Amino acid sequence: MYAIGNDHTAVALKEVIKAHLESKGVEVRDFGTESTTASNYAEKAEEVANAVASGECERGILICGTGIGISIAANKVHGIRAACCSEPFSAKMSKVHNNSNILCFGARVVGTELAKMIVDAWFDAEYEGGRHQARLDTITAIENRN
Ligand code: RB5
Repeated sequence: MYAIGNDHTAVALKEVIKAHLESKGVEVRDFGTESTTASNYAEKAEEVANAVASGECERGILICGTGIGISIAANKVHGIRAACCSEPFSAKMSKVHNNSNILCFGARVVGTELAKMIVDAWFDAEYEGGRHQARLDTITAIENRN
């Protein structure tokens, strides 16, 4: 199960991505918003990040105007590694090297086809582990002492 959330800038793109994931057989829990009235991306970030951090959802996707605010907010939740990506290579590597558990992008930055390619690259990628784990352990240690 994937969690998905967005602010007012990304209602249409969220629908495209949700349908795209469903066409791949992925179950999606949609945290909204469905409204194009100005809203606070940080609230959606927290809801989706909690769903992923608790294990209720396996991965999350967050979309705001740039992907930046919503990724910064998601990364405040313990255990979250949210990556803001505007192209497929970074999306893939964010999983392979960083074991990202939330993918973020900006509805004002990427078009629908590029967004689908970013999602596909992340969806297909697997965490490599090995030498990368010590680095992720350091990130967790930073999280725990600050
Ligand atoms: C909303 O105007 C915009 O600031 C938000 O969608 C996002 O881009 C923040 O990082």
